[in-house]
Amino acid sequence: MARPKAFITRTLLPDAVDIVRQVADVEIWPDESPPPPDELRRRAADADGILTTIMDRVDADLMDAAPNLRAISQLAVGLDNVDVAEATRRGIPVGNTPGVLSKSTADLAFALLLGAARRTSESERWLRGGNWRLAFHPTHWLGQDVHEATLGIVGLGQIGLEVARRARGFDMRILYHSRTRKTDAESEYGVEYADFPALLSQADFIMLCVPLTSQTHHLISTAELAMMKPTAILINVSRGPVVDPQALYQSLHANRIAAAALDVTSPEPIPSDDPLLTLDNLTITPHIGSAALPTRLNTMKLAARNLAAALTGQRMETCANPEVYNGG
Ligand code: DGY
Repeated sequence: MARPKAFITRTLLPDAVDIVRQVADVEIWPDESPPPPDELRRRAADADGILTTIMDRVDADLMDAAPNLRAISQLAVGLDNVDVAEATRRGIPVGNTPGVLSKSTADLAFALLLGAARRTSESERWLRGGNWRLAFHPTHWLGQDVHEATLGIVGLGQIGLEVARRARGFDMRILYHSRTRKTDAESEYGVEYADFPALLSQADFIMLCVPLTSQTHHLISTAELAMMKPTAILINVSRGPVVDPQALYQSLHANRIAAAALDVTSPEPIPSDDPLLTLDNLTITPHIGSAALPTRLNTMKLAARNLAAALTGQRMETCANPEVYNGG
């Protein structure tokens, strides 16, 4: 019997590719940039399975172009680039990578929180610019304390819970808001449920950990920013479009909130002339939340195992639409 064909849309670490090679003939997109949509459709045309990243649009057009497709494995927990409902209609399992990257993403989220509070990027830029001419000055570079401050976590999934765990070590008061109240987490992690306006108005640090959906698109815009304290710091490690970038620019530019730290932007990559990049009170990183080597390798291996499983007729380990297994 012919071996199945797999198309992997970016270069992965070899240990992960080997997992797929054991069960399938593998083609890998070699470029640094993701395949453009027409190229993705062309390469997927005879594929039984694809391994994708957040940069690939996996929609009905792509599925139409790939009539043999029986597995979609995404190298990410977020699936906003994949039409999961359409895949489900076609009985195609969609894998993603929850859990394995939560701790690393929470580490980066906390690094951004600490960095924005203590102005590390801003003061480093100033120092490298040759501006440190006066000796230590008692009123210069005053930031905010993190310990004992109030953190508001929006979206208490696995990443949000890991952020809460870290915040406890800093003796923070932790508020959270999510679609459903999580009473077990309240006792286990010492977090308090707050309605959205209360969280926005009480938190010193607001951390966005929600997936991008039609409900969370521009969840933070002018009205929400106006509810925050003037000393508030907004951190986004979820998806760029959760924040309205123009509203954020206006709020930061006018110092209506103190600062923001973004690991994700809208669009990605952010254009080099985006006005947000002119702001000193913005800390920004290029979507590196889960980019720690051991975590990335484990994430790649999980995505590879999901693909290999589906191509050999087994259930994916982490499947976003497990209902496909019940129908047939
Ligand atoms: C995820 O897993 O969703 C991260 O944002 C990396 O893509």
